[in-house]
Amino acid sequence: PSLEKDFLPLYYGWFLSKRSSESLRKTGQAFLDELASIKVFRKESKHFGQPSDDPKVKVDLTSYFVKRPPGVLHCTTKFTDFGKAPGSEDYAQQEVVKSSYGKAFFLTISALFITPRTAGARVELSEQQTLLWPGDVDVLQPAVSLPKGSRAHVTLGCASGVEAVQTGIDLLEFVKLEKAGSKGEEVGEIGGGKLLSYGNGMWMLLLSKKIEVRAIFGGYYG
Ligand code: A2P
Repeated sequence: PSLEKDFLPLYYGWFLSKRSSESLRKTGQAFLDELASIKVFRKESKHFGQPSDDPKVKVDLTSYFVKRPPGVLHCTTKFTDFGKAPGSEDYAQQEVVKSSYGKAFFLTISALFITPRTAGARVELSEQQTLLWPGDVDVLQPAVSLPKGSRAHVTLGCASGVEAVQTGIDLLEFVKLEKAGSKGEEVGEIGGGKLLSYGNGMWMLLLSKKIEVRAIFGGYYG
């Protein structure tokens, strides 16, 4: 038996190049800084650990999202948990997964978002990239199925005590609201695009100029 079959990675995904990682981190950082400084956001800062919604107080979102991914950023496709996660073998054995392993891609980042739990970048998958997307991950419990690829994202940071898995769940929550016709309230243009507020500390920046990042498809073994 090949080693490949015996040892599945912790997860499969696209791993951004060092340059693209640094650039996306910077863009995320600039978004947090600008968001924290605008009045509509400061009026809702209670969701981010502030004792009051005093608009004079600026929230430090960078230290709020204290858990940042080490090394290069990535977009998880399938969390296989070394083969223990349901559907792992089926995913790993797909021809497209095997033939794409180690190949280079350009991913498109269409939006940045934060919630009181996580900060992330939304990834818009191409048709070809969607072939690598698992069929069982765009589900919000209990029983809300969203379009394929809805969950695609890059985690930029998590609040203290929050696990990275939450970022995808939070993005699905945005998509669910979108689907329900709640597009989010447009609160204005900030650097980079249109800022939408969904309430409960959920904010999304629709990038007026989508970002292309370079990434290699592969597995992370921990
Ligand atoms: P994400 O893809 O949102 O960043 P950890 O560091 O917690 O072991 O997670 C490793 C990576 O796998 C992270 O990128 C994380 O989330 C993703 N991940 C962890 N657990 C799950 C899960 N149950 N389902 C999907 N993705 C997961």
